Amino acid sequence: MDLSAEFKRIYGTDPTVESHAPGRLEILGNHTDYNEGVVLSCAVTRETHMLLAPRSGRNCRITDLRDNSQTEFNLDEIATPRPRDWGNYIRGVIVEMRKRGLEIDAFDAVIYSTVPLSAGMSSSAALEMAAAMAFSEAFGIKLTRPEWARIGQGVENNYLGLKSGLLDQFSSLYGKRDSLILSDFRTVEVLKTVPMPHGYSFVVANSMVKHHLVDSEYNSRRKECESAAKKLSEVLPGIKTLRDVTMQELEENEDKLTVREFLRARHVVGECQRVFAAEKALARNDIGEFGALLYESHRSSQTDFQNSCPELDILVRFAEASPLCLGARLSGGGFGGISIHLVADDNVDEYCAKLREYFQRQAHKDPQLIVCNIGDGAGAVKLG
Ligand code: GLA
Repeated sequence: MDLSAEFKRIYGTDPTVESHAPGRLEILGNHTDYNEGVVLSCAVTRETHMLLAPRSGRNCRITDLRDNSQTEFNLDEIATPRPRDWGNYIRGVIVEMRKRGLEIDAFDAVIYSTVPLSAGMSSSAALEMAAAMAFSEAFGIKLTRPEWARIGQGVENNYLGLKSGLLDQFSSLYGKRDSLILSDFRTVEVLKTVPMPHGYSFVVANSMVKHHLVDSEYNSRRKECESAAKKLSEVLPGIKTLRDVTMQELEENEDKLTVREFLRARHVVGECQRVFAAEKALARNDIGEFGALLYESHRSSQTDFQNSCPELDILVRFAEASPLCLGARLSGGGFGGISIHLVADDNVDEYCAKLREYFQRQAHKDPQLIVCNIGDGAGAVKLG
């Protein structure tokens, strides 16, 4: 689609800025970001684009070119989100910028995205970061990337009420083509770019389950992690978050925690260990070990964090029994959403066909399967 031509058709002028921000995959390090832990993730080659031109007055118009739906708003009337409106992700960015003393002028914009919606690939963070990059370029706003990520997180935490971490925005901003990024959410930086061994892809298999309680389940997991860390800090000096706890310390202090707190903590501590182990495995090209860590992560989600669901378990059970798959796990928040499957490129077609058939038989639904390429992070350019 010629996005500039579409912009001109709708608004009668040319856009001045184009931005793009990709969706992401969480590869390993589940629910560790808000515990100040580490995550291996990547950006995918599916992106959200935003084309923008400033206009006079206070009214903004945004058109989604996927379905030509439009949202209009006055810059002075955006303090509260609107029910079920994708424009919230953009208005939320403006609200969070305002909290930091940053103002923008009114604008017209179009958006277009190839990030699948509600598929666990962070289409919302992609939209937030596409808006952030467009505003930065169009209105000369200079913030560091971690600050932009925090603005996106603020949209979720404050504007929309999901107490998520920084992973989604971070991965969208810092992704590197054909590589995973190892991020540290204590220092809020990318520690390392970890090249993916050639010849393998991640197949995304969507469980097609949209858990209606996702937000409240997510927020309650976060609370359990935080109360576990608080109780442990009373007996272990120097503990601020679960990031600081070793498996041995956790096991020795099991009696200080409720059963739930202990299980949640064991998942987070184990995930941080697996992230570092995976980085080492990839450095020595040990794809077998890397895959085994993905399976371990899923088991930990099932038993300890309890954020899997029967459909995700069906997908991962098939993977474990198939000689074509090297590793698989649920990815992202959980309670539905997607699983990722590590497969050699030569086997992808056969694997997808078999996985589809199995899932149809076991779950009585058609799974959405997406073969992902790993892409670069967000950016923006001036047009014309
Ligand atoms: C969601 C959140 C992230 C992260 C993952 C789980 O994607 O938005 O911040 O917590 O879940 O790792």
